Amino acid sequence: MPGGDDLRLFDVLDSTNAECRRIVEQEGATGNIWVVAGSQTMGRGRRGRTWESPSGNIYASLLYKIDCDLAAASGLSFVAALAVRDMVADILQAPDRVSCKWPNDILVEGRKISGILLETAGPGHEMPSHVIIGIGINVSHHPEDSLYPATDLNGAAGRKITREQVTENLILSLAHWISRWENSGFSPIRKAWKACAHGVGEDIIVRLPGEELCGRFVDLDEAGALILEFDGKRRHITAGDIFFTQE
Ligand code: BTN
Repeated sequence: MPGGDDLRLFDVLDSTNAECRRIVEQEGATGNIWVVAGSQTMGRGRRGRTWESPSGNIYASLLYKIDCDLAAASGLSFVAALAVRDMVADILQAPDRVSCKWPNDILVEGRKISGILLETAGPGHEMPSHVIIGIGINVSHHPEDSLYPATDLNGAAGRKITREQVTENLILSLAHWISRWENSGFSPIRKAWKACAHGVGEDIIVRLPGEELCGRFVDLDEAGALILEFDGKRRHITAGDIFFTQE
């Protein structure tokens, strides 16, 4: 199958990312493997948060073998965001409604429809053998009380979208964007991400552990960090949550 050597389907898992990690630890996987679950009992979100995972949505992780360093592999965060963004835009037949929010959320009309969690796996922290690209997509449900307003595909499309259709299109879309990244590096990915990004050039709030910064989202740097301008200086932010002030 494109983009993965293997597809493993489960009704229920603790977390598709956790299953990918077990595969590396127990099988020493050499190829790329997709793990897809109907629901998760311990879905994980970014920054240690829980990802609500009732049945009806998409929980999918690609176990991807890397042969580059960690800094280069971090570009996969944007690769995955573009893949989901294109897939959602295609299903809705409305590219203008779908945008990317730094670092790797996907929005429909400013509401989060998908979140992505990248983790590393393999022998050592310094030299991981794999990246786990975990993707959650709201299809039938979305949380009402999340950090950021959310939506789902059925609501956005005004019709019922099948999980099978979303999964198939996601696998094809990620295969396309990964091959683009493998062949041409981060530069075209950065350009494509910026072309559909929400809030570049606007005032934003960045929440970091123990710190909140208000400034202008000037650009994405060559490594995928957000460049924030405030108090006449620029800071490159590599991790955090952003919020838009003009909604
Ligand atoms: C976020 O916080 O926005 C990232 C959410 C990532 C959720 C997905 S669902 C599939 C995979 N398995 C997990 O436990 N988490 C990711």
